[in-house]
Amino acid sequence: MKTLEIAPLLRGLSFDGEKGDIVVSKEMLAEAELTCSADDLSSKFKAGMRSVNVDGVGGFLLGEDYDAAAKGTANPEKVAGRAGVVNNKVCVVTGGAQGFGEGIVRALIKDGALVFIADMNVDGAKALAQQLNEQEGRTVAFGVSVNVTDEISVEAMVNEIVQLVGGIDVFVSNAGVLKAGSVKDMTLKDFEFVTDVNYVGFFLCTKHVAPVMELMNKPQGNYFTDIISITSKSALEGSSKNGAYAGSKFGSVGLVQSYAKELVVDNTKVNAICPGNFYDGPLWSDPERGLFVQYLNAGKVPGAKTVADIRRFYEAQTPMNRGCNGEDVTKAILYSVEQTYETGQAIPVTGGQVMLN
Ligand SMILES: NC(=O)c1ccc[n+]([C@@H]2O[C@H](COP(=O)([O-])OP(=O)(O)OC[C@H]3O[C@@H](n4cnc5c(N)ncnc54)[C@H](O)[C@@H]3O)[C@@H](O)[C@H]2O)c1
Repeated sequence: MKTLEIAPLLRGLSFDGEKGDIVVSKEMLAEAELTCSADDLSSKFKAGMRSVNVDGVGGFLLGEDYDAAAKGTANPEKVAGRAGVVNNKVCVVTGGAQGFGEGIVRALIKDGALVFIADMNVDGAKALAQQLNEQEGRTVAFGVSVNVTDEISVEAMVNEIVQLVGGIDVFVSNAGVLKAGSVKDMTLKDFEFVTDVNYVGFFLCTKHVAPVMELMNKPQGNYFTDIISITSKSALEGSSKNGAYAGSKFGSVGLVQSYAKELVVDNTKVNAICPGNFYDGPLWSDPERGLFVQYLNAGKVPGAKTVADIRRFYEAQTPMNRGCNGEDVTKAILYSVEQTYETGQAIPVTGGQVMLN
């Protein structure tokens, strides 16, 4: 067995019914509470152990949060109730360096999660992680590089995370792109670009994350993990001149339902969250290329004279009279994680703009 298999097994063995320990992989330790073979690990490991050597594989440090494991600080106090849903869980957010993803990262950290910000913009991801670690005064985030359309890159990201902390509890597939355009003149290249990031990227991430989650569940059989696809309200209702995007998001719901049925044997739940428009992010609010400016310049909203007029027009289309944000989406993530009697759903967070039948 290799480090990348032993670490999730240890995380699963340390599971106390609510959380597994963070497991940091090392070279063989000079002193360890337990030294044994990989085959004897399940019978010899006892909950609460903080250092283990596995013959021929390496050493492993354990603790309830990253600093307790890696730096030997005291375990943090337990957080009870709903506030504890993601506390000290290892969460990954792809596309977490900006926009919705950044909002989700910030909200998960507020709820105590250890978050991997996985983005093509690795500098942005690392800068955000550093800012959050300084703000919290402990290790709450890491920035890691990934291109979700490249299988080698996705596999490397998953391995890097497992090596660092021993597993993944909640994987949020958020990285996504939009290229609007009529079906009559959209290029195949643009169509494939959107499909690759939004649809194929979700397949590649699930392919490499699901086996890690299976390993974590193996020792005790009651470890629950979550894979969550951030789709869109355009996964519930078609979107005119936006077919590539809506198609990729509807398709992702098909993957979610299929993976949910398949991965339930590993206690991995798979759900989609379908947010409404996020007006504060760069997609809508970028002062040069954002959709508000584009729609103003194109005269798309009759009578609108300013960006603020355009924004109000769109906000008024939602019963809740505002756009969606990362905290709204994170509440749906918490629901999916806390709920252990539901999987394969597409959960709307649209302020009532799209209502399910
Ligand atoms: N903005 C909205 O109004 C809105 C509404 C509903 C759903 N969504 C969905 O929310 C998600 C995030 O959207 P956003 O508006 O915040 O986008 P954004 O463009 O602001 O941010 C996307 C992030 O993903 C990263 N990224 C892009 N391609 C990547 C790739 N191949 N590999 C790794 N990282 C990549 C970017 O570097 C960026 O940090 C998307 O899936 C989007 O479809 C957005």
